Amino acid sequence: MAIGVFDSGVGGLSVHHRLVERFPTADFVYLADQANAPYGGRPGEEIVALTRAGCERLFAEGCNLVVLACNTAASVALRRLQQTWLPGARRDLGRPVNVLGIVVPTIEAATGLPWEHEAERRGDKVEKLDVLGVFSTPATAASRVYEIEIDKRRQDVAVFSEPCPELARMIEAGAPRDELAAVIEGHVKALKTRIGRHPDRAILGCTHYEIVADLFEAALPPGTPLIRQPGATADALARYFARHPEFDAGTGGVRRFLTTGRPGAQHSLVETFWGAPLHFEPA
Ligand code: DGL
Repeated sequence: MAIGVFDSGVGGLSVHHRLVERFPTADFVYLADQANAPYGGRPGEEIVALTRAGCERLFAEGCNLVVLACNTAASVALRRLQQTWLPGARRDLGRPVNVLGIVVPTIEAATGLPWEHEAERRGDKVEKLDVLGVFSTPATAASRVYEIEIDKRRQDVAVFSEPCPELARMIEAGAPRDELAAVIEGHVKALKTRIGRHPDRAILGCTHYEIVADLFEAALPPGTPLIRQPGATADALARYFARHPEFDAGTGGVRRFLTTGRPGAQHSLVETFWGAPLHFEPA
């Protein structure tokens, strides 16, 4: 069996890269739904349908576990799929399969608390001491998942989301770094204006942004801690495997890359980040 990693495009490679480092002997199939990228401006129903199709494809490729390395899919579609589709898919396939997201590990990393922990609601007002900025696609920002789930656990953290409508598409297309830097600086400024000051910490809440994390670091005040989704997801997956020995991740070290878009090589922004040429097969 293999671990499937899914994203609308190349952003999920940032998570995949870290998973491969953490589980070097596991077999991996990466699926980029580039024919339909970006997801971030699409209506919720479409995101659910596309995410489900991606998971079905990865199960058909022999994956038993799919990691949605996409905040948009995880925040908009994951709960719906777990509740309405996954039980039937398990029955039809006759083997254990599951779909995991990256929002839960990110919230655990941001709060320093396990997901199961919910803060006791006290009547008195809790002072917000820690200001957290979240840069994401419009769909993720509209879901308010980071605001809602962090507030349930840590009432001393104030969360402000900054939707970045063009950024994932630009990274997906391999836009020049100076153009990306200008857009990122604009979003960092817009967030600062809205909050009244810079955030104390930030989440890059779209996996595409991790590919240009250095540009966010340069635009934010020096030393602003970034909560890193790839590492948080790898840690969460290691804990998941320890709890669920029925999920074997293979032992062949196989790496396959599939795309619903144009097969072949990816652009240089991705290859520089990845550190080697990547060849995508047609999905
Ligand atoms: N990389 C994705 C995310 O984490 C999707 C970006 C998009 O397709 O708009 O949200």
